[in-house]
Amino acid sequence: MRIRSMVVTGFMGLMVVLSGTTGSRAFGLDNGVARTPPMGWNSWNKFACKGINEKVVRETADQMASNGMKDAGYEFVVIDDCWQTGRDAQGNIVADVERFPSGIKALADYVHSKGLKFGIYTDAGTMTCAKRPGSIGHEYQDAQQYANWGVDYLKEDWCNTLPGQSSESSYTLMREALKATGRPIVFSICEWGSTKPWLWAGSIGNMWRSTGDIQDCWDCKKAWGGNGVVQILDQLNGIESYAGPGHWNDPDMLEVGNGGMNKEENRAHFSMWALLSAPLLAGNDLANMSADTREILLNKEVIAVDQDVMGLQGRRVKKMGDLEVWSKQLADGGRAVALLNRSDKAATISADWTDIGYPTTVSAAVRDLWAKKDVGRKSGSYSAEVPSHGVVMVTVKP
Ligand code: GLA
Repeated sequence: MRIRSMVVTGFMGLMVVLSGTTGSRAFGLDNGVARTPPMGWNSWNKFACKGINEKVVRETADQMASNGMKDAGYEFVVIDDCWQTGRDAQGNIVADVERFPSGIKALADYVHSKGLKFGIYTDAGTMTCAKRPGSIGHEYQDAQQYANWGVDYLKEDWCNTLPGQSSESSYTLMREALKATGRPIVFSICEWGSTKPWLWAGSIGNMWRSTGDIQDCWDCKKAWGGNGVVQILDQLNGIESYAGPGHWNDPDMLEVGNGGMNKEENRAHFSMWALLSAPLLAGNDLANMSADTREILLNKEVIAVDQDVMGLQGRRVKKMGDLEVWSKQLADGGRAVALLNRSDKAATISADWTDIGYPTTVSAAVRDLWAKKDVGRKSGSYSAEVPSHGVVMVTVKP
């Protein structure tokens, strides 16, 4: 069974490689879920290991169901690392009874009772990144346990793997284990882009981290060499052809509202994730959100760009130093366009129609998605003043 699936995957992988820049669109994982980028919340960016427990998860579900997020499309409540402590005599994974005294099944039931879906985390190696038990050697047993609990989403990390362990084979094994449960489960691959998962994961996972962990800063290279928003954008640009319905590049969870970025930066972060057709997993404390954070996470017009049914990831179409134009083709033939100012001063940025694939003569309706205003019909180009570390995001519809 395992050998057969690996042979099939190897063939698919070869086909993907041979298909070159057309990427893996034709080979997307067909498990019926994540036809648009998954939306929800994940515990890690705010609560990390120390702060996670069942109270936080229940409160998050309460908030998501009542603060407008559920209506806006947020669906999954995902517990990241540190919910598990060991295995019992039969090898079954055991949850931390101090942090999750009611058990994982009860928590999943609670999340479901709010009309939401429930997600959990494991690791392809011997231990998770926070040194909790990993799934290696227990893939089928763990997958069945998750399904019994009512898990709808699984993130599988890549810490503490064995020397020479193949990422493609390991994630294929978990895909098969999840499939064997018969439960539709979104499969989120998290090997940080280290073995270029966009080249092989299209038929294995519903999403794959394309970069290392996001940090809560706009330009982390300036600060200390980490992965801020702009560093991640540079890594996502160029791999857009590998994303599509059922299989998405994942630039990591949102840092909106976690305090490291100002309002413009948070808006730009959210806008650019939507333009990249990224999974939108809020990573902040939903029970204590500022009005600005709420306004950003709930901007339905920006979310609609992310969730466009065509599922084409946007890309950078023009770069003039720190001033950039990004464009995403939408199902109705329109474009979502982000004028992105990475510089330290406000600047005027112009998107020419030829940058976004239209003849200059075309007249198109332009709508500003943050001002929430139609700005009229334009021909040839659209220009706007863009704040430092900010975006102006518009749709352009001929
Ligand atoms: C890795 C992942 C993060 C998070 C932590 C948990 O760093 O990339 O997203 O899951 O592990 O320990």
